[in-house]
Amino acid sequence: MTLTPKPGVLDIAPYVGGRATVSGVKNPIKLSSNESALGPSPKALEAYEHAAKSVSIYPEGSAQMLRDAIGETYGLDPSRIVSGNGSNELLTLLANAYLRPGDEVLFSEHAFLVYRLAALSNSGVPVAAPEKDLRVDVDVMLAHVSSKTRIVYLANPNNPTGTYLTGDEVRRLHAGLGPDTLLVIDAAYAEYVRRNDYENGMELAARFANVVMTRTFSKVYALAGLRVGWAYCPAPVADVLHRVRDPFNVSVPAQYAAAAALRDHDHVQRSVEHNERWRAWITDAVRAAGLVVADSVGNFLLIRFPHRPGKTAADADRFLCGCGLILRGVANYGLPDCLRLTVGSEAANRRVAAALAEFMARP
Ligand SMILES: Cc1ncc(COP(=O)(O)O)c(C=O)c1O
Repeated sequence: MTLTPKPGVLDIAPYVGGRATVSGVKNPIKLSSNESALGPSPKALEAYEHAAKSVSIYPEGSAQMLRDAIGETYGLDPSRIVSGNGSNELLTLLANAYLRPGDEVLFSEHAFLVYRLAALSNSGVPVAAPEKDLRVDVDVMLAHVSSKTRIVYLANPNNPTGTYLTGDEVRRLHAGLGPDTLLVIDAAYAEYVRRNDYENGMELAARFANVVMTRTFSKVYALAGLRVGWAYCPAPVADVLHRVRDPFNVSVPAQYAAAAALRDHDHVQRSVEHNERWRAWITDAVRAAGLVVADSVGNFLLIRFPHRPGKTAADADRFLCGCGLILRGVANYGLPDCLRLTVGSEAANRRVAAALAEFMARP
């Protein structure tokens, strides 16, 4: 007898985050993990430093103070909010709690990788529905629903494509699911979206017993290193998550910094405006260099490179790294011709634009 993990676990390729270093390059610019260009609110950092005095005591396990702050900000009932060690933890906990071996987990072709990991680590069966033009297609998603579909994960907007579904489309997806299928709307980039037809999923989660919306402090709030996320859930789902989460899953400094970040509306506004301005600028610049970019509503762009030798995504990645610019290869998302670029500071964006123009212009 040898010690073996549950079926599915060894099919998991460990998640690899965006690179942060390039050998031989001092202080490269990291644009590989969709982190915020402006960094966190100074008020969040102040709260973090203040909380450092309390690190010898355990956190309040349910993160009541943070859940109250979230409830106050969004007009939500805190008892239906569950905080997590990043939204990642919550996405995984939902699978841990609701999947039985052999249950299917549905997501779209180029969806965030964690959904597949959550399925496989629970002996579930990942089902990827093809996308059309890098967009989730509701009809194709619904055509892949079966009696075994237990969880449908929808990243809205999606990473790494940057595309989104409208509120109407999400409602149509939900309407096609049975009451024993959970729709998880992962709205990690919701704050960046400025489209009238976009909805973050909060209302669906408020109304239906089988919809959860997840959010994160890692993106617009720039607290990725602290690991804080939250889910807005039907009351019975919140109850379940509180049973299966780690007893102290959000640290004291994380709770205080997140609550302060949430209340610094001006900083969030500045971050969104910076993103809006520079996402448009860098999209134009990358297109002017002769590359294809999908319209993105997030804080990142998906850039498609030609198949021509010397001009491929892998060639571009090498060239950019040599210039001290780290983007993200997305071959593991089924997009081997693409690199994902996080919208950076003005200086970083200008350097990327110049480097890509040089890369495309050279013989
Ligand atoms: C779509 C999406 N969901 C969730 C996450 C996880 O965020 P975190 O665990 O940092 O809250 C990410 C991170 O990149 C993401 O892109």
